[in-house]
Amino acid sequence: MSSGRAKSAVYAGTFDPITYGHCDIVERALKIFDLVYVAVTADQKPTGFFQVTQRVELVKKALEAHGDRVIVSSFSGLLVDYVRRLDQRVIVRGLRAVSDYDYEAQMAMTNRRLADDIETMFLMTSWQYSFVSSSIVREVARNGGDVSSLVPPCVEECVRGRFVIIDRK
Ligand code: COA
Repeated sequence: MSSGRAKSAVYAGTFDPITYGHCDIVERALKIFDLVYVAVTADQKPTGFFQVTQRVELVKKALEAHGDRVIVSSFSGLLVDYVRRLDQRVIVRGLRAVSDYDYEAQMAMTNRRLADDIETMFLMTSWQYSFVSSSIVREVARNGGDVSSLVPPCVEECVRGRFVIIDRK
């Protein structure tokens, strides 16, 4: 994207694992942009669960219906540096509730301070996914609950497999 209006954007996250809430944000972004780069951070949180290769695989499978309008990759280091490497100028983030605002504003302002030519755009998650988070999914699955309404089938299968194996130990 050298000049003019953005036709594509970067949706970054940890996706540990991807949920229907994340998929909803990608679908909303695709109504605005021709192409969405989904960037999975390789820098795992201390509470991280899936390795980056598996998180990327699950994101790819969950979004495969969008074909080549979605490109999934992983990155480490600063998000703005990766956005520049992709030759992009727009970061998409999802907002679920007012409680997300402080954290998201802090991140957007920091990114703006680091790279004033990159804009952050916020999209509201559908109300039915406003309570969903990756750690809620892990918590429900760990305790044997049904996560089928929270995550795509490929993620459900994978999460269930992980906890069944853990439970058998
Ligand atoms: N639907 C479902 N869940 C959502 C959601 C949505 N629409 N939006 C956010 N979440 C949840 C996630 O499930 C996750 O939940 P968890 O904490 O229970 O696991 C949580 O919100 C935050 O996850 P995520 O959206 O993946 O963002 P993040 O806070 O992990 O940030 C990066 C990921 C990659 C954007 C950020 O870490 C980053 O920019 N890293 C690079 C370093 C950098 O540049 N730092 C400077 C900027 S401050």
